[in-house]
Amino acid sequence: MNLMEQIASAKPTFKGKNILTWLDFTQSDLSELLAKAQHLKENPYSSSMSGKTLAMIFEKSSTRTRVSFEVGMVQMGGHALYLNSRDIQIGRGETIADTAKVLSGYVDAIMYRTTSHEKLKELAEEASVPVINGLCDVYHPCQALADIFTILELKGRLNGLKLVYVGDGNNVAHSLMVVSALMGMEMVVVTPEGYEPNPTVLKESQLIAHRHQGSVKVSHDPEAAVKGADVIYTDVWASMGQEDEQEERIKAFNGYQVNQSLMDKAKEDAIFLHCLPAHREEEVTAEVIDGPQSAVFQQAENRMHVQKAILQAVIGYS
Ligand code: CP
Ligand code: NVA
Repeated sequence: MNLMEQIASAKPTFKGKNILTWLDFTQSDLSELLAKAQHLKENPYSSSMSGKTLAMIFEKSSTRTRVSFEVGMVQMGGHALYLNSRDIQIGRGETIADTAKVLSGYVDAIMYRTTSHEKLKELAEEASVPVINGLCDVYHPCQALADIFTILELKGRLNGLKLVYVGDGNNVAHSLMVVSALMGMEMVVVTPEGYEPNPTVLKESQLIAHRHQGSVKVSHDPEAAVKGADVIYTDVWASMGQEDEQEERIKAFNGYQVNQSLMDKAKEDAIFLHCLPAHREEEVTAEVIDGPQSAVFQQAENRMHVQKAILQAVIGYS
């Protein structure tokens, strides 16, 4: 390896890259982003994004993603545009390709929250600026980066920790599986039968975990799975777009609630995480989410710090 190759491999460059899923990235890429996020949490204000604009297209509701990206850009001297898909021409049938090309002429990056990973990929292929996944049907990568950042803050390490996700094998679970695997964690996804994670994402995560001495497993037994857990995580049982399945899911997820009795079966110093928004007394009791083991608001704040790191990395700054 010559000197230039050594420098390139020691300091991976993100400039211009899309962040659609962490499957395309390495442990050292994630470590670099986590270190950058730590620095930004300690030094929030700068002019590093001066003159830069982020377009944020939302096809679904949002509190955290919208506000944390917008405030994050402002804190770095940049600007963010909130574009509700209903209000822009995409909502009247303008193609994703045309939207991607037009926006690329105005802005420095695009964040897209969409109903479909395929649409996200199309936008990324057609745009000449980086595209960041702000949640799709399969992944929620910004959330997962904030999750491991929070775990690292609270536990001081990631490697070898046991993370148990109890609930629906959804977008949040999938991204957590990928990052846990990359960071050498032991992850168990506990779901009712029929709500397991996507088999392709599971297989890919298991291959990555194997390379990092970690593991990703699926279980249907919450009480057995949480034994020895350092982190217990859950998300809503019906995601955005699944509102009409709400009643059926409440029945199917009976026995999969994170309550104090389940928390008490994990390690004594286990923490509780939830991406939010939460439905108290469904997937988690108020006692747990509002109790001393919960770190959900620290986790929500951390969305902003890690996303600032992502923005600096993919947009680049001088
Ligand atoms: N966790 C999360 O993405 O929250 P929002 O839907 O409020 O953005
Ligand atoms: N799984 C949830 C996450 C919300 C942040 C959803 O997709 O609605």
